[in-house]
Amino acid sequence: MTHWARTLDAALEASFLLSFSRVGFSLRNRAERWPPPETLSLDGRVILLTGGTSGIGRAAAEQLARARATLVLLARDPERTRATAEAITAASGNDRVSALHTDMGDPDAVRSAAEQLLRTHARLDVLIHNAGAVHSARRVAPGGLEATVASQVVGPFLLTALLAGLLARSAPARVLTMSSGGMYLAPLRVPPELAPERYDGPRQYALAKRAQVVLNELWAERLAPAAVACHALHPGWVDTPGLREGLPRFARLLRPLLRSPAEGADGLVWLAAADGAALGTSGGFWLDRRRRGVHRLPSTRRSDSAEARRALWAYCLERSGWDGDLDAVIRAAS
Ligand SMILES: NC(=O)c1ccc[n+]([C@@H]2O[C@H](COP(=O)([O-])OP(=O)(O)OC[C@H]3O[C@@H](n4cnc5c(N)ncnc54)[C@H](OP(=O)(O)O)[C@@H]3O)[C@@H](O)[C@H]2O)c1
Repeated sequence: MTHWARTLDAALEASFLLSFSRVGFSLRNRAERWPPPETLSLDGRVILLTGGTSGIGRAAAEQLARARATLVLLARDPERTRATAEAITAASGNDRVSALHTDMGDPDAVRSAAEQLLRTHARLDVLIHNAGAVHSARRVAPGGLEATVASQVVGPFLLTALLAGLLARSAPARVLTMSSGGMYLAPLRVPPELAPERYDGPRQYALAKRAQVVLNELWAERLAPAAVACHALHPGWVDTPGLREGLPRFARLLRPLLRSPAEGADGLVWLAAADGAALGTSGGFWLDRRRRGVHRLPSTRRSDSAEARRALWAYCLERSGWDGDLDAVIRAAS
């Protein structure tokens, strides 16, 4: 990267508004001359993508299918997921796109989706946790947990744990997690659920997204011996059904500055495909093809202690009900 591109990136990064908007995407893309997604090849790689029926996930699915990946789309509605897989096959000419339906907030459903994937696929190169939503009113997920935390923290934890052996057998492999820049405003809090009487959708979402970023680092440490790299990222501000429904006023106000779903998916597709930067490191947090810091406020940095991290891991083990032995899973795969 040239000195000019680095200086521009640093100037953009100093402002949320410029960095997260389509201005940041377009200036960086031009200054750094990113190879377009059409140049990527994923032939022979198997990718499981959660939340592939809408918004960023749908745009990522289209790009991954065009790059010839074997793609499994996972979302809640069986008919919608199947129809999306068929539409993507028709548009890309790639007939290795299939559908798997599950509610990421329901641990039993996550277990049965993992079992199904293990039955149908002999390898898994990339696991992408993209499904997510802001819930304006508090909802309870099937296992009894608040829905944001259930579907974006505990569900993805369980799916990674259940598929860790397959990822390790397919190594080098990677696990990607779509977090949000909103996590910069949230501390690491365990348990991450707000009390029901204090529920605030965007706050709950930001706490879940912070927990995702910390879990990404914890998985990176644990899966390093198996050559499974873990990265989290955020997409900037993207014009999607999810943003319009979850944060309607924000979406209306910033509409001219929002990224398109394809722009929002760029970093995700790049991390899924890039063999240099992404596979050479693990535990990173990315925006626009560059690693970023995970704290911007002293208060969130203070909250992110070794003790809080241990508590988060223990919380996920307990709430997901996963009692596997990760070391044994990794040893068996190597
Ligand atoms: N848009 C933004 O500006 C923005 C900014 C920062 C981060 N993000 C993150 O980017 C990701 C994608 O968001 P988006 O804006 O593209 O949202 P979206 O348009 O609402 O798409 C969300 C996808 O997730 C699936 N999904 C939601 N809850 C699920 C659950 N419990 N189980 C299984 N699938 C579930 C949805 O599928 P079904 O409804 O068909 O099940 C849909 O495919 C999310 O993690 C979000 O937090 C977005």
